[in-house]
Amino acid sequence: MLEVRNLSKHFGGIRAVDNCTFSVEEGSITALIGPNGAGKTTAFNCISKTLTPTSGEVWLGGKRIDTLKTHQVTHRGLSRTFQITRNLEDLSVLENLVVQSKTSGIRSLFGPAISAAERDKAMEILEFLGITRLAHEETSNLSYGQKKLMDFGALLMSDPKIILLDEPAGGVNPRLLREIVDHIRKLNERGLTVLIVEHNMELVMSLSHKVVVMAHGQVIAEGTPEAVQSDPAVLEAYLGGGHADQHAAAATMEAAHV
Ligand SMILES: Nc1ncnc2c1ncn2[C@@H]1O[C@H](COP(=O)(O)OP(=O)(O)OP(=O)(O)O)[C@@H](O)[C@H]1O
Ligand SMILES: [Mg+2]
Repeated sequence: MLEVRNLSKHFGGIRAVDNCTFSVEEGSITALIGPNGAGKTTAFNCISKTLTPTSGEVWLGGKRIDTLKTHQVTHRGLSRTFQITRNLEDLSVLENLVVQSKTSGIRSLFGPAISAAERDKAMEILEFLGITRLAHEETSNLSYGQKKLMDFGALLMSDPKIILLDEPAGGVNPRLLREIVDHIRKLNERGLTVLIVEHNMELVMSLSHKVVVMAHGQVIAEGTPEAVQSDPAVLEAYLGGGHADQHAAAATMEAAHV
């Protein structure tokens, strides 16, 4: 479904993403993991065209998308969340879902104009996420976790075929974490393809069909969760210093962020 070919993004002398090639199969949950600074978010930004790649190509469903504009990429069925929750504080949750899904991002002086269809869709999504009670709550009153759920909802507004999640479980409590995992599973069972960046290794290993590992801007391993966990190159990337103790590495991987 998604093919990333020789993708690079340089910031001055920094090769944040350095000649990355990987693919995401249709209907799969694929995880993109790697130590802090590996280039995961930058890769997401290039795939969703939030950033223009320095070189390389991105293909979605057999069509090239790196040449398109951000909203055109969304229109083709690719939707992503941001690592840092961004939303419009003075709007309600319902309004946020609609506004965030509008490609222009322009708001009228008197708040967003919401059509009946948009309202219905947003309410359906809030129901799926179990937060209909928050529909008319001002975003500034939400907890961090509730904002994460709202962002998750916003990403579903465009009827995506594939979603890119950047640390959807970062900083949320264990109960909400289980909820989010549940939502991801359910959406995937309905046919949605998922590419997820996450530092919580337990979550990654239990949720994903395939794991792509990045380090220093490059893809250093790609395979099943089992294969990747015991790959010496992956252990080396997380541990550094030439250790190859799998348990220590697993612990380090888990401690890396959560
Ligand atoms: N706008 C930018 N300008 C300059 N350097 C950047 C920019 N964005 C990212 N970088 C650098 O690119 C590298 C990759 O960063 P990126 O945020 O993609 O990593 P990451 O894998 O998402 O890390 P984390 O797990 O901490 O979120 C880092 O060295 C980072 O400092
Ligand atoms: Mg990141």
